[in-house]
Amino acid sequence: MENILTSIDPARMPCFTLCSTGAKIPAIGFGTFGSDHVSADEMAQAVRTAVMLGCRHIDCAAVYGNEKEIGTVLKELFNEGIVRREEMWITSKIWNDHHGRGDVLLSCAQTLKDLQLDYLDLMLIHWPFPNFHPPKCTVESRSPDARPYIHEDFMRTYHELERLADMGLTHHIGISNVTVPKLKLILRDCRIKPAVNEMELHPNFQQPELYEFARANGIQNIGYCPLGSPNRPERDKEPEDTVDMEDPVIVEIAKRHDIHPAAVCLKWAVQRGHAAIPTSCKPKNILANLAAACSDPLTKEEMDAIAKADKNCRLVKGHVFLWPGAKDWTDLWDMNGEIPQ
Ligand SMILES: NC(=O)c1ccc[n+]([C@@H]2O[C@H](COP(=O)([O-])OP(=O)(O)OC[C@H]3O[C@@H](n4cnc5c(N)ncnc54)[C@H](OP(=O)(O)O)[C@@H]3O)[C@@H](O)[C@H]2O)c1
Repeated sequence: MENILTSIDPARMPCFTLCSTGAKIPAIGFGTFGSDHVSADEMAQAVRTAVMLGCRHIDCAAVYGNEKEIGTVLKELFNEGIVRREEMWITSKIWNDHHGRGDVLLSCAQTLKDLQLDYLDLMLIHWPFPNFHPPKCTVESRSPDARPYIHEDFMRTYHELERLADMGLTHHIGISNVTVPKLKLILRDCRIKPAVNEMELHPNFQQPELYEFARANGIQNIGYCPLGSPNRPERDKEPEDTVDMEDPVIVEIAKRHDIHPAAVCLKWAVQRGHAAIPTSCKPKNILANLAAACSDPLTKEEMDAIAKADKNCRLVKGHVFLWPGAKDWTDLWDMNGEIPQ
């Protein structure tokens, strides 16, 4: 009879050990951004499925608009004895409209209330700008109040994040969507080093410089859009974007192992050394994504071939965070090594 995998044993999931505390973060997590088309209830049910299938790492954010529904599901899972709180790694993020004085504590309190938790494992500042846009906006949407990165302002927000850690409201803190120049300044001026750097990472967008800089500074990388985000919001789609799961190198390796290209992307992530947080609403895909990290690894030759498949293709360009006077989306990413003012 065919041996059908129905869940993975969480003990088999590889973990990365954080330098700061020695805590272990499961290498494959579950992303909860519904890309503007998955409802909050659907995403909460997908979280339930993910945990039932063995996932112990959930990537949440206030702006995803579904923490309340996910909180209800988490509480049910704890009450039903499916999993204990301390077995889970739960991340959330401060949205760009909560960078003001006192806002970080407020945002954290709301997230804890919505998720029905006493503490988070990781709280990130979602973007290094206080620039935000209405939900489901188009790519042309701009806030008149948007401004470039102002390091002093960001550090004021970051120091509030440090206070959350002091209070035990989050066990780790971190940043997301930063660049090497910004991270250098943050490391210079922080009191508590970021434990984690969440960034866009997939075979066609490997960000080697930022990746190695974070790693050299003892910061664990987490990769978002690990499969190349095929169903991302329209505002993040450009005709020249590449498709990771159709990349000939990925497809060829997938054929050789008789696995889906998604599994190749995830094996590559874990073997390279970063956690990946794919999302899916399909139980079959959720399970396959978890199983990818627990089965046969890629060979050194395959890892080398994927390293060469980098196309420097950023998918989440961030147009909607641009400030008046900015040239284009490349200004968000300090392309020539300097932070535009
Ligand atoms: N920090 C940040 O600024 C930031 C930014 C973006 C995203 N994120 C996080 O990263 C997470 C993941 O990013 P993402 O959702 O944009 O991209 P992704 O995980 O690369 O792609 C998700 C898409 O791939 C499909 N998929 C999943 N597993 C599959 C499989 N095994 N085979 C084939 N297709 C599969 C899913 O469709 P089906 O539902 O049909 O399976 C889903 O639409 C988000 O949910 C969020 O938590 C963070």
